[in-house]
Amino acid sequence: MNTKAQGRILVIDDEKNIVLVIQAMLERAGFEPLVFTDSARALEAIESEPLNAVITDLYMPGPGGLDILEYCQKRRPDLPVIIATAYGTVETAVSALKRGAFDFITKPFEQTELLNVVQKAVQTHEQRLKEPIVITSVDVPAPKATEISSIIGQSEPMQEVFRVISKVAIANSTVLIRGESGTGKELVAYEVHRNSPRCQKPFVKVNCAAIPATLIESELFGYERGAFTGAVTSKPGRFELAHEGTLFLDEVAEMPLEMQVKLLRVLQEKEFERVGGISTIAVDVRIVTATNRDLEAEVKAGRFREDLYYRLNVVPVQLPALRERKEDIDLLVKFFLQQSATQLNRIITGIEAECMLAFRNYSWPGNIRQLENVLERMVLMSESTVLGARDLPEEIATAPVVRDLLGRKGEAEVEPSTFKELVRKQTQAVERDLIERALEETEGNVTHAAEKLKLSRKGLQLKIKELRIRRE
Ligand SMILES: Nc1ncnc2c1ncn2[C@@H]1O[C@H](COP(=O)(O)OP(=O)(O)OP(=O)(O)O)[C@@H](O)[C@H]1O
Ligand SMILES: [Mg+2]
Repeated sequence: MNTKAQGRILVIDDEKNIVLVIQAMLERAGFEPLVFTDSARALEAIESEPLNAVITDLYMPGPGGLDILEYCQKRRPDLPVIIATAYGTVETAVSALKRGAFDFITKPFEQTELLNVVQKAVQTHEQRLKEPIVITSVDVPAPKATEISSIIGQSEPMQEVFRVISKVAIANSTVLIRGESGTGKELVAYEVHRNSPRCQKPFVKVNCAAIPATLIESELFGYERGAFTGAVTSKPGRFELAHEGTLFLDEVAEMPLEMQVKLLRVLQEKEFERVGGISTIAVDVRIVTATNRDLEAEVKAGRFREDLYYRLNVVPVQLPALRERKEDIDLLVKFFLQQSATQLNRIITGIEAECMLAFRNYSWPGNIRQLENVLERMVLMSESTVLGARDLPEEIATAPVVRDLLGRKGEAEVEPSTFKELVRKQTQAVERDLIERALEETEGNVTHAAEKLKLSRKGLQLKIKELRIRRE
């Protein structure tokens, strides 16, 4: 008997003795059984436990074997389900097979018979997890395409970006990163710093679009006590904080013209004064900037100083849009799926080919950020452990190219989407109810409520946001 393959097996039978016998047999053969006499409880475990196969009795109080089977097919299609049945109910067992059960064993069964079936089930499970675009928590390493470790991309345009980063990082030159929204500009800025001799020193970020024009000067250069109402103490600015490190000016095109003059001066002279200060402060700072605007057009329109433009544009790095490097989509999808599933405490074992096809052909106007958000939402909302085209958000499912690909006919579309909407509304109502109750019981403590609901804290927070639940 070959009992080498180990696996975690969920066993459900309302008769305690039977459960104990199966448990003993499995343990002896090196499997790890997880046993239940209460089938409702078992359903919870199916949802949350790493498992390789399920053995279930047919008739039990509460959910029966066929219910368990149906549940697995919906939520854990990767799991083979073995039906254990008394002699008289073989016919039902056969009909269970027709519905997709993996196999059945008749009670009373022998150890050899049980182990053979379990063995085969575990092997099948292994194979199912290895199917082309099935994603498992074990076999997808965080893809590392290059030494620029946090950036994913094997396509030629990304390889070019990596080459520029590694060349330019070691120099002190000013870098201007350009690319559409969500293409990874901030990530690149950080990698420039991390791969530079300044990596042990601070990386300071300023989002020029997020700071009101009136505050930007004191943010960048700091202020002295009494410089303006409210300046009760003096405070160093971001330039000082970034001394010997890197200062990242994000969305630099949004900087007001009068600030652009001041910035130019620091870049040229490497010194400045705090607001309301008289002494001159010298700093050694490497400047990296980013924008998603057409800077040349901004210069032409008089909104961006030409001299500053030349100062900043010493080494330009152009990030490709995601639609220009579709060959990276699979890798990114796998990476973000794993990430979201872990963070949200969900089990996602794969993605249907059809769904991946839609991803590859969609235009991704919001680039990688959009892809990341879409996957997070899909992981959160999916009713199954395998993401499918049915889980695609509206904006992707209705994009013409995707609609063509998925072969949806105009008239057939109304019904399912209304139905889907209905199901979604119902699910949301139930979720809302559960969450509100948990929050009430824990007096609004999200951490405790998350524990009660067996969700991760982040997962619960996202749900609260998504369902717009008020917390008092
Ligand atoms: N190549 C990549 N590999 C892995 N993650 C990426 C990659 N590019 C971007 N991301 C992720 O996508 C998100 C958006 O990236 P980032 O904030 O760097 O974009 P951005 O170009 O600065 O966008 P915006 O112009 O909107 O500020 C981040 O969560 C980032 O970690
Ligand atoms: Mg950004």
